[in-house]
Amino acid sequence: MTGAATARTDHWNAQGYAGAARFVSDLGAPVVALLDPRPGERILDLGCGDGALTQRLVEAGAHVTGVDASPDMIAAARARGIEAEVMDAAELTYERAFDAVFSNAALHWMVDAEPVLAGVARALVPGGRFVAEQGGMGNVAAIRTALIAVLADEGVETTLHDVWRFPSPAEQTAALESAGFVVESMELIPRPTPVAAGMETWLAVLAAPALAKLPEERRAAARARVADLAAPALRDGAGNWTADYVRLRFRARLETAA
Ligand code: BEZ
Repeated sequence: MTGAATARTDHWNAQGYAGAARFVSDLGAPVVALLDPRPGERILDLGCGDGALTQRLVEAGAHVTGVDASPDMIAAARARGIEAEVMDAAELTYERAFDAVFSNAALHWMVDAEPVLAGVARALVPGGRFVAEQGGMGNVAAIRTALIAVLADEGVETTLHDVWRFPSPAEQTAALESAGFVVESMELIPRPTPVAAGMETWLAVLAAPALAKLPEERRAAARARVADLAAPALRDGAGNWTADYVRLRFRARLETAA
């Protein structure tokens, strides 16, 4: 569930993530329901983070392997008793090893989707399913626009396309079909999400790779400016923040001839 699945730099700290972003796994019930894990099935959790949601699949009786590129997150997942490996999502090593691949809140960090989807296809048995939820088109748009503006003001011109990939349903359907999948469902779901920890904490944890474009000593001030810019759209009169999340949730099946 972290963005670390393809990141070369480990921006992730399991304790900090749990404190500020536990809602990410807490809100994972619908994608677990779409996966419908069965006892005895072999399931790969791609970008498993600290394993909080992976645990739900284990409790359903599945044999689950988690992978994430963050060593800190994998250590936290193993501490829960989950079988987990540090692995780059663009270089999955599995061949016909899983009945299903599952992913929550991780694919949007994997900006080069093609090698990731090819690896997922290789990892599945023919007819296996790929069920995932990620940020979709329009995800955190107010936050992203504020970040782009503040970074530009700091001399960093960026669209943040190198940090996050939030595809439209049509784009993700095409990418899955190119990798040999038949798409069974694809939904774009606005999901305004309360951020109890506040926007600056959200930015420190979940926008760390974007803010890493700035020298460390300028990041705190940048977070404060981003929060100021986003506040009219995302903060209510009582000071409560709601992030403008948009989820893309899908189920796809590997073609039996693949
Ligand atoms: C997301 O889960 O959609 C997300 C996480 C971190 C930054 C941006 C979006």
